[in-house]
Amino acid sequence: MPYKNQFEQDVIEGLQQPQKQLSSKYFYDETGDKLFQQIMNLEEYYLPESELEILKTRTADIAKHIEVDKFDVLELGAGDGRKVVYFLEELTRLGKEVTYYPFDISSDVLKTNMANVKDKLPYLEINPIAGDYSKTLPAFAINTPKIILFLGSNIGNYNDERAIEFLRWIRSNMQVDDILLMGVDLRKNPKTILKAYNDSQGVTKAFNLNVLHRINRELGGNFDVDAFDHYPFYDPISGITYSYLVSLKAQVVQIGEHKIPFKKDELLHTEVSQKYSLEEIENMQKETGFHSVQHFLDSKSYFSISLFSQVSE
Ligand code: AVI
Repeated sequence: MPYKNQFEQDVIEGLQQPQKQLSSKYFYDETGDKLFQQIMNLEEYYLPESELEILKTRTADIAKHIEVDKFDVLELGAGDGRKVVYFLEELTRLGKEVTYYPFDISSDVLKTNMANVKDKLPYLEINPIAGDYSKTLPAFAINTPKIILFLGSNIGNYNDERAIEFLRWIRSNMQVDDILLMGVDLRKNPKTILKAYNDSQGVTKAFNLNVLHRINRELGGNFDVDAFDHYPFYDPISGITYSYLVSLKAQVVQIGEHKIPFKKDELLHTEVSQKYSLEEIENMQKETGFHSVQHFLDSKSYFSISLFSQVSE
């Protein structure tokens, strides 16, 4: 059956699986972006602050691994640039000559990014690259030397197999002296992790439920959003936070000509957020052909910015 776009196809096919599922990439429409910004300001969602602490306090140590004085910084999924500016500022202070390339799907976000970075670093050269970075990054593969930034623990939203595939793909876009800096949320007290995905103000709940609103808005669905609840659950054995929506009653949802039945208490899987140990990050490094990895942690050891390199130290 032909679908009107990829979103519709993924939604219908996902909802027709025995275990219903939706991809977390569909969280991020305009409302989802705003809710995610709010999540990032929540105290319970410790990730941004931990990562920021590393950027503020460890950039000089990270810079010791950068042998050249003039290089490009390519940031994948750059967002509003409020964190990276500390990294760029410190590099500039250390006398490095940097050109910054923020890559993001949204040209609006890139405008904010430019404004935030220019505000602190008016003389820094910035070349924003709008679009899907899986399509735009390969054109930069031969540019050298460069540092690729993949921050925010975005890697955690991929399952194991995709994470490996993704790192191999990044490596295929790097020259031998280039460096990858990846932000990774670490395993820790399970209660701390669970709270980050089950905040007391219900922002994460609204973020998770927004995908149903989005289906209603964009695909003409008739989800009764109040008849679903947010259910996050952290499994400390696998290190995965699973996010689900729970149907609070038996109901049939109509999306276009498709009818999707839900049983009472049926689960709809919406997101994985993988947490890693340092050893697990090192295993990924080995599996993906990088030569070495070094970790830079915050004072609570909640988060790592891990430096993947293709040459021996
Ligand atoms: C974007 N990503 C790293 C976030 C995470 O922690 O998995 C998305 C998120 N989901 C719920 N809260 C935040």
